[in-house]
Amino acid sequence: NEGPLILGIETSCDETGVGIVRGQTLLADAIASSVEEHARFGGVVPEVASRAHLEAMVPTIRRACETAGIKPSDVDAVAVTSGPGLAGALLVGVAAAKGLALSLDKPIYGVNHLAAHVAVDTLEHGDLPKGCVAMLVSGGHSSLLAVHDITDITDGVVPMGNTIDDAAGEAFDKVARVLGLPFPGGPYIDKAARDGGDRLYVKFPRGLTSPRDLERHRFDFSFSGLKTAVARWVEAKRRDGEDVPVNHVAAAFQEAVCDVLTRKAIDACKDRGFEHLLIGGGVAANSRLRVMAEERAAAAGIAVRVPRPGLCTDNGAMVAALGSELVRAGKAPSPLHLPADSSMPI
Ligand code: KG4
Ligand code: ZN
Repeated sequence: NEGPLILGIETSCDETGVGIVRGQTLLADAIASSVEEHARFGGVVPEVASRAHLEAMVPTIRRACETAGIKPSDVDAVAVTSGPGLAGALLVGVAAAKGLALSLDKPIYGVNHLAAHVAVDTLEHGDLPKGCVAMLVSGGHSSLLAVHDITDITDGVVPMGNTIDDAAGEAFDKVARVLGLPFPGGPYIDKAARDGGDRLYVKFPRGLTSPRDLERHRFDFSFSGLKTAVARWVEAKRRDGEDVPVNHVAAAFQEAVCDVLTRKAIDACKDRGFEHLLIGGGVAANSRLRVMAEERAAAAGIAVRVPRPGLCTDNGAMVAALGSELVRAGKAPSPLHLPADSSMPI
């Protein structure tokens, strides 16, 4: 029973997540997802997501409290994702958190969703290293960040690099669509590749890795050329009336993404002299990325920290985890009128 008891609320996209942590111990991680409702549209429909959050919010808070064996009035503070994300979806979570904080007379902490993807690792591996490179790979972001202290990340960190076009998860989702796999595509590509996919079947392009590109974009990513290359390759096969070997294409595409991500992440660690690489966000659940990062980092003398797959994709525990770090660091809470900021920078 060490540390503050924090309830965290996440509603930035299509998962209604409510997590409860005590210090760095996870007590509950309740999730309701509207993904099924979006699947037939091939992407998240903001209006549908907002309505689903509204319906799921109270039951999910109840379920988290039951699992943790606490009453809402036991919590020391409420944390909530205040950005970035879908504006309407964020508003539901922020409004719920304010109602809870106000009625319980407890402080509220508005947190950055991307920072929370990093902070969630504390629930599995304890305090974060004092200096590390964090690679954030999700449906909306692909960034390399030099993190000194996670509780300062909310005050703004200039990323070492970003994607200049599609995010890594977005590329997974778009390529999955080309291959006729369901939405969201990341987990399906991962599975197709694992089911006998040949990673070396085709060599797809590695964006921004030529010597010329590296001069200007050493730590940036680009995945739209890769996505187009896969789409062209698949179209050509279909035009010739040939079968598309989905497992092989999935594996070869995944290999290209993971190759670039791990190479640049390790280069970033070397550039900063950091011995720790932390990986977070939905794409960090990818099985090939986890293995490749581990192997390549080990060869470079760098330790990798990546939370278990269930904590990589969006959830409430990550918000509670960052809230807990902020409280433990003695950070001031947010004003009760805190806004939701859909384009909040890291
Ligand atoms: O972090 P997240 O749950 O939501 C955002 O903040 O965007 O990330 C969602 C993204 C989706 O693009 C999804 O396809 C991808 O993470 N993803 C994966 C895997 N699991 C989820 N991508 C590759 N392999 C996976 N196993
Ligand atoms: Zn996320």
